[in-house]
Amino acid sequence: MPVTAHPAFNKACAYFKIKLIRIPVDPITLEVDLKKMRRAITKNTCMLVASAPNFPHGAIDPIEDISKIALEYGIPLHVDACLGGFLIAFMDEAGFPLKPFDFRVPGVMSISCDTHKYGFTPKGASVILYRTPEIREHQFYALGDWPGGIYASPSVAGSRSGYLIACCWATLMYYGHKGYVEETRKIIEVTRYIADGWSKISGLRLLHNSDVSVVAAGSDIFNIYYLIDGMIAKGWHLNGLQNPAGIHIAITQLHTQAGVADRLLQDTRDCVAEILKSDNKNDTPTAVIYGTSQKVPDKSIVCDMAKLFIGACYETRIPSATKNE
Ligand SMILES: Cc1ncc(COP(=O)(O)O)c(C=O)c1O
Repeated sequence: MPVTAHPAFNKACAYFKIKLIRIPVDPITLEVDLKKMRRAITKNTCMLVASAPNFPHGAIDPIEDISKIALEYGIPLHVDACLGGFLIAFMDEAGFPLKPFDFRVPGVMSISCDTHKYGFTPKGASVILYRTPEIREHQFYALGDWPGGIYASPSVAGSRSGYLIACCWATLMYYGHKGYVEETRKIIEVTRYIADGWSKISGLRLLHNSDVSVVAAGSDIFNIYYLIDGMIAKGWHLNGLQNPAGIHIAITQLHTQAGVADRLLQDTRDCVAEILKSDNKNDTPTAVIYGTSQKVPDKSIVCDMAKLFIGACYETRIPSATKNE
């Protein structure tokens, strides 16, 4: 899979002990190297992955090209449309035509699509589509001789909340096909407006064209992580990217409200101007975190730190200083 695909795949492979091969992307275009993808295929390859779009840069991978490789080698291609599935499905009708990314492409065998992102439903229910019922059946599990009865389960999660599934269904009905086309139109229009605005800020460089709803940028003249902290101070939250260093914002319904996009652009311009005035010298928390992480050659130490952080969130022991109080 392209290195830009979501870590959910790395996590699944770690759980199921599957060897994952991450294919680098071109450092300039950030598109996956198809030659390297083809060369990485072995007789053990069980799946190819493409994102539509990927999380870091919002780029849609070349699905038709990857599909050709998949068909040639007889390997199923999974399209991860978790992030933007509920936009790309409506973009043609919203006036922003896209190349085919779904079962119209013959090598695509499965597609994941999160309802809780641009489907606007509560988290906890999602969608995976398979080209055929035979492929879907691999997901089902049944045990016929259990003393507790005949057991059958359709997904990795066992017990699931019917409440969340009902809320998901109700939200889908509330928006309906027309509603999703309209929301898609508004979100893509604002995304392109913000991408255009950022591309005109001197010192800021878009990392990729905004194929869907993510705008990603970097800088050749200042430490881009300063912009994250500068924008936090103005009430915005931008995500940090690495390899290459960058920031991104995923445009949502909130940003389509009157005046929000213009405020974001004005605040970005002001922040960039302040950074350039400071001569790149004000180290800020995000710059220090990413700067330090990049200097650590052994990335397992970075992972250990991240796991320590999660562990600390689950910590329930009372610190000794307060125990005697
Ligand atoms: C592109 C993409 N794929 C997959 C996922 C799946 O995430 P999770 O493991 O949280 O379900 C996400 C979530 O942000 C995503 O953006």
